Amino acid sequence: MPQNLLSHFDKDRSILIKAIQHVQKEEGYISNDQIRNLADYFDIPLVDVEGVITFYTQFKRTKPGKYIVHVCDGTACHIKGSELIANWISEILGIADGETDEEGLFSLETVACLGCCSLAPVIAVNGKVYGNLDRKQLRKVLRTYQMEAKK
Ligand code: FES
Repeated sequence: MPQNLLSHFDKDRSILIKAIQHVQKEEGYISNDQIRNLADYFDIPLVDVEGVITFYTQFKRTKPGKYIVHVCDGTACHIKGSELIANWISEILGIADGETDEEGLFSLETVACLGCCSLAPVIAVNGKVYGNLDRKQLRKVLRTYQMEAKK
């Protein structure tokens, strides 16, 4: 049984979305255990919880990697080659946008402007921004995290 993250919520199904958002904030995704937990807590069918999670794209069903790589595809980054950056990351890590590698180390997500357009093209790894990237610099950044994970 997963840790009960819901105890401070009223048992009112009208706040189901808020409760799911809370679970995702705490755990990074919505596991099968948490779906059962939500259904039990609000005393509603599993299918109702699954329906909400499926409907809203904000909810993730797979556990994110240790490092979340956000590739900016805002206008400035797009013009400066964000597509190429995303392709290189996919090639280096073997994952596509929205995926997590088999080791659970990296997740790749394309996002809109990260707010530092003058550094385009930009990525962020767990919120740390890296700009003016070329292929060599990108490899170096990813390698740093791969090495850090081995410590
Ligand atoms: S467009 Fe990429 S940081 Fe603004």
